[in-house]
Amino acid sequence: MADLRINLAGIKSPNPFWLASAPPTNTGYQVQRAFESGWGGAVWKTLGDPIINTSSRFAAVHFNGHRVAGFNNIELITDRPLDVNLKEIYETKKLFPDRALVASLMVEPKREKWHEIVKKVEAVGVDGLELNFGCPHGMAERGMGSASGQQPDLVERQTYWVKEAARTPVIVKLTPNITDITATAIAAARGCADAISLINTINSLAGVDLDSWNTIPHVAGKGSHGGYCGPAVKPIALNMVAECARNAKVSIPISGIGGISDWKDAVEFLLMGATGVQVCTAVMHHGFRIVEEMIDGLTNYLDSKGIERVSDLVGRAVPRYTDWGNLDLNYAVTARINTETCINCNKCYIACEDTAHQCIERAQDEESGASYLKVREEDCVGCNLCAIVCPVEGAIDMVEQPAAGVPMSWNERQAAIAKLSMKGA
Ligand SMILES: Cc1cc2nc3c(=O)[nH]c(=O)nc-3n(C[C@H](O)[C@H](O)[C@H](O)COP(=O)(O)O)c2cc1C
Repeated sequence: MADLRINLAGIKSPNPFWLASAPPTNTGYQVQRAFESGWGGAVWKTLGDPIINTSSRFAAVHFNGHRVAGFNNIELITDRPLDVNLKEIYETKKLFPDRALVASLMVEPKREKWHEIVKKVEAVGVDGLELNFGCPHGMAERGMGSASGQQPDLVERQTYWVKEAARTPVIVKLTPNITDITATAIAAARGCADAISLINTINSLAGVDLDSWNTIPHVAGKGSHGGYCGPAVKPIALNMVAECARNAKVSIPISGIGGISDWKDAVEFLLMGATGVQVCTAVMHHGFRIVEEMIDGLTNYLDSKGIERVSDLVGRAVPRYTDWGNLDLNYAVTARINTETCINCNKCYIACEDTAHQCIERAQDEESGASYLKVREEDCVGCNLCAIVCPVEGAIDMVEQPAAGVPMSWNERQAAIAKLSMKGA
């Protein structure tokens, strides 16, 4: 059986599945139950000066019958006294010495504040620290969370202050509410972070009630922006992880977070460079026990591929992720409709006719006279839209075509043109 153990910058855990810092890691009772279910690690709900939370604080986007396609919250960091949390962290670590127990921290951007809290949490036996530079609401207005995390120099300086005092590995948790995630990832690396984790939540407003005109959620008739997470954010998170993984200036381990709901999502993050993953929304939706299927699924996947260790998977897809300018402009696929499985719903025809390249038409079978949908391959640009909207799995295939010429990317093309014009000059 494949070895699922990971070592993230010196923090060891029996599998790559950690709970992210959030409501599921609020108390010792919860984290201990999660560990009993099999979670390999947990990042405790962010510690700092305890705050007062609002009543009514979560909302979800239900999409087309799918509950919790996205999740929105205006919750802040822990509202429990620091000494209570520290006592429970100590007890939890004693009960589960083989699990990764990481303390998430958020304090004002002052050197002595960071030193003080680092010493307190390390004294109770945590395996590592995660600096929360990510929460987009509430704490940001107080100069913390994403207000810090959006400024590379503040990320670097605060990471450095933490490293001055820390004895355990330091993970910097990044906010996605920034134009270029690698700017703050590089800043964390420059500040001597041992790892980065991403993403925290994305600025969001879940909705507006059509009758009361209140925001969703609202607190006594008023709302403010929250943080978005859950399945809807996975592609954003995956891209940000991949951008960090392929940037040589980042070059520290990554803990992947954002919309991970099952073992397949986790494998995608591992392939794109994450050493381990963290989960929040899926656990809030379905409970701690989802980890059992995650462990089984990942084990079976690795065994079926003949991969001995989960660590052998990390980053394997990163070399396949590049700048657009490096993509081969002579590569071509075209759509092919499988008349055996096509149900003639016309979804592909409408999509292609109204919004793509008008290359699907009706044809007639000479013998039976039955009409069927057919792609005019010479006009198909291989955009994939027909296959995407098709409701029947396998009814439309995107088929690779013989290359129109030698592989040639935009960058290569521009370089060749420049060379020619030099010769001509
Ligand atoms: C209700 C709620 C509270 C959260 N609180 C924290 C927090 O205290 N500290 C933190 O670093 N992240 C917090 N997060 C963000 C999560 O740790 C995680 O980064 C985010 O939800 C993305 O993961 P997911 O898509 O699996 O939910 C919170 C998320 C939710 C939904």
